Amino acid sequence: MNLNLLQTLDDFRKKAKIKLPKMVFGYIDGGAGNGLAVDRNLESFKKILLQPRALKDVSQRNQSKILLSEKWQHAFGIAPMGLCNVANPMSDIMLAHSVNKSGIPLCVSTAASTTMEKMYEIAGDNIWFQLYMGSSKEGTFKLVDRAKELGIRNLILSVDVPAQGYRPTEVRDGFKAPFVFGTQQLLDCATHPSWSIPYIFSGIPKFAHNFGLSEGGRPFFDRYSGTRLIADLDFLKSLRDRWKGNLYVKGITCVQDAYDCINCGCSGIYVSNHGGRQLESAPAALDLLRLIRNELGFQFPIMFDGGVRTGEDIIKALALGADFVFLGRPFLFASALGYRPAIVHLINILGKQIDSAMAQIGCTSLEELNSQVIYRFDKQKAKVG
Ligand SMILES: Cc1cc2nc3c(=O)[nH]c(=O)nc-3n(C[C@H](O)[C@H](O)[C@H](O)COP(=O)(O)O)c2cc1C
Repeated sequence: MNLNLLQTLDDFRKKAKIKLPKMVFGYIDGGAGNGLAVDRNLESFKKILLQPRALKDVSQRNQSKILLSEKWQHAFGIAPMGLCNVANPMSDIMLAHSVNKSGIPLCVSTAASTTMEKMYEIAGDNIWFQLYMGSSKEGTFKLVDRAKELGIRNLILSVDVPAQGYRPTEVRDGFKAPFVFGTQQLLDCATHPSWSIPYIFSGIPKFAHNFGLSEGGRPFFDRYSGTRLIADLDFLKSLRDRWKGNLYVKGITCVQDAYDCINCGCSGIYVSNHGGRQLESAPAALDLLRLIRNELGFQFPIMFDGGVRTGEDIIKALALGADFVFLGRPFLFASALGYRPAIVHLINILGKQIDSAMAQIGCTSLEELNSQVIYRFDKQKAKVG
């Protein structure tokens, strides 16, 4: 594979679109309803411009990031995604090796296709665990205890999927998790042999964290029977009591919810509209970040995702108040190519884009990023004389 031909995150998406069956591409790429929230996330970044600066010594640039006393090579990581192995049977393993090499975090979902134990074995402290409330509190806490026993330091509780978002693409193409095959799906897979042949040997991806957690015959976790409906503030409080490591709440989109998390003693919040996959009328994630950061002030850590597709987007999100930025879909498109160096290549592209942008805007470290680096056509602060 000639990685040189892949230079933007959209290049990865185009390649993946050719390789993946329609139903799998739709699962990864799609959003709620007609996809307006997905578009809104992407558009919001295009509206923000950065202010170039001159006459600054930017010869020594450093984009490492310290987050709650942990040092990362970059200020970005891989967002939690369920069933990554639908892109390629080796997705999870390739992602784990890649973050290990690149020094960035990888959030392993409750809905992952590989266990947190296996992922931790490969990537150690680069692995964060993302928790969904399952069909019972006891079952959910079993997962929390597993993460604790492993030594995982960062836990994310996702709260923005009380029910599955309505995604017409998945319905039309017959995407089910795990897969259910009818004629349409068999034809879809058969016409994408470079994707489907490896699954003859690996078997179809399944939810790896359901082992031993069924209660009353009901799966601990599934996409369709509302297993996540019962997560509430009391649950968050009991989780905070049980989990002593860093605890972030993902899917926060309003100031009141942010304050509730602060009052529960969370380590930080994670502003996200789930990549536009849940509510089509949700505001752009970047707009929500600005709103919440302005209200909260600058002390409380905020993670962010939604529509980030370039290193400059990462700079914009950091300048507008994020402490750390995550990307979802692009990493699944990269892993769909079935070639681990492609994932590392994607990470390197983002790193290079950040590095170059830092030089253009006159910054040598990410700590210098604030609203001053955002271009404002109506107002510029200047010292005269
Ligand atoms: C295929 C797919 C599966 C996802 N599964 C989860 C999940 O299991 N848990 C979770 O908290 N978020 C999940 N998300 C949402 C991502 O964590 C993230 O919020 C979103 O992808 C960010 O938007 P982006 O794809 O534009 O970067 C998923 C997203 C995708 C694309």
